[in-house]
Amino acid sequence: MDPVLNPYAPGAGTPPPELAGREQLRRDLGIAMARIRAGRVAKSAMLVGLRGVGKTVLLDRLREDAEAAGICTVRAETPENRSMPAVLAPQLRQALLRLSRQAKAKDVAVRGLIAIAGMVRSLKVKFSDIEVALDYAPEAGLADDGDLESDLTTVMEQVGLAAKEAGTAVVLFLDEVQYLKEDQFGVLIAALHRCAQRSLPVTIIGAGLPQLLAMAGNAKSYAERLFDFPVIGELTVSQARLAIEKPANSAGVEYHPDAVSEIISLTHGYPYFLQEWGKHTWDIAATSPIQRSDVQAATVEALAALDESFFRMRFDRTTPKEKQYLRAMAELGPDRHRSGDIAAILQKPVGAVAPLRQSLINKGMIWSPAHGDTAFTVPLFDEFMKRIMPGNDWRSE
Ligand SMILES: Nc1ncnc2c1ncn2[C@@H]1O[C@H](COP(=O)(O)OP(=O)(O)OP(=O)(O)O)[C@@H](O)[C@H]1O
Ligand SMILES: [Mg+2]
Repeated sequence: MDPVLNPYAPGAGTPPPELAGREQLRRDLGIAMARIRAGRVAKSAMLVGLRGVGKTVLLDRLREDAEAAGICTVRAETPENRSMPAVLAPQLRQALLRLSRQAKAKDVAVRGLIAIAGMVRSLKVKFSDIEVALDYAPEAGLADDGDLESDLTTVMEQVGLAAKEAGTAVVLFLDEVQYLKEDQFGVLIAALHRCAQRSLPVTIIGAGLPQLLAMAGNAKSYAERLFDFPVIGELTVSQARLAIEKPANSAGVEYHPDAVSEIISLTHGYPYFLQEWGKHTWDIAATSPIQRSDVQAATVEALAALDESFFRMRFDRTTPKEKQYLRAMAELGPDRHRSGDIAAILQKPVGAVAPLRQSLINKGMIWSPAHGDTAFTVPLFDEFMKRIMPGNDWRSE
C-alpha cells in the first residue's frame, strides 16, 4: 500500500486513527465532569495501566471532550525528580489567567494569582525547582504559610472559586502520576479533598503506571473517595479488530479476517503493538485485501521497530545490574514472579537484590502486584530482554 497514506500511528502519545474501546470510560467521565461543574458529588479518575496501552492518548482525548463541553482544562506531565508544586504551579496559573479573562470571574481569579505568588515565594526554599512567572505581588496571609498542604489547598480553593464564578470547572490532566513523591501526592489528594468538601468545581484526571495504586493506598485513605482507578489495558478481540480494520477501510483497503487474527494474536491486543503491526503490514502488503502472509512478512520489521524505540527507550534507562535483574525476571517468563525466585536465578539472597528491585520500581520498569511479587510494566518485555541479552553470558556480567 502507499506508505504516504499509511493511517497507523505508533509512537508515545501519538493519537491513533481509531481510539478503540474507550467509549464507556469517556462517557462516564464526561458525566462526572459535568456533575463536578454543577457542584455535585462525583468521582474523578486516575487511569492505571502498563506502558503503551494508551493512557496518554486517552487523557488527551478526554481533555478534548472536556474543552468541547466548555470546561477549562490544563495539562501537565510529571517528570521524574520534579516536585509536585513545580509541576502544578504553572498549570494552575494558566487556568487562573484564562478564567481572569471572564468579567464575572476576574476578581476571584486575580486573588488566585496573588495566592500563587504567596505560595511560590513561601515554598521556594523547600522546592527550589518551582519556576513560574508571577503576575501579582503576594499578599501577607494568603497562601504563604510555607506549608505545602495549607498553601496548595488555598490556591486550589481559589481556582475552584474562580471556576465557579465563571460557570465552569477546572480540570487538570496529569500524566505519569507515578513519578510524584508519595507524600506530595498525598498533599495533592488532601487539597482536592478539601475542594470536594466545599463542592468547588476543580479536579484532576490523572494517568500512571500500576505503582500508582500502591501510592494512592498509602497516600491518603480518602483517595478512593475522590477517584476511581479504571484499568486501561489491552483491547478485546473485537476492539482490536476495529482498531486495525477501520482506518484501512476508510482508505478503501480491506483485510482478510485471518490477517487481522494474526495481528491480534501477535500483539495480544496491546495498542502500541497494534499500531506498529498495522503500520508495517500496510507498507509491505501489495494488494487489498491484506493477507496473513503480509502480516507474517511484516513481523520482523515491526519487532525491529519496537526493539529500536519502545523497548530500547526503557532498557537504556537502566544500569547493568538492573538489566541483569530484568533479564533474570525474563528467564521466568512474562507473568508476575516471587522476589525469591528472581533472586534465586541471580544466585543472591533476596535482601541483596532488594535495592535493585526498588530502583526499578522507582524508574517505572517493574511494579509489585502483591507483596513480594514483581511484574514488568512493559508488555512483552520478557521476550525483548531475551532478544537483547541472549544466551547465558549475562549471568556473569
Ligand atoms: N484505544 C486505542 N486504540 C488504538 N490504538 C491506540 C489506542 N490507545 C493508544 N493507541 C496507540 O498506542 C500507542 C501508545 O499510546 P500512549 O502513548 O497513549 O500509551 P501510554 O499508555 O501513555 O504509554 P506510556 O506508559 O509508555 O506513556 C500510540 O501509538 C497510540 O496511537
Ligand atoms: Mg503515556
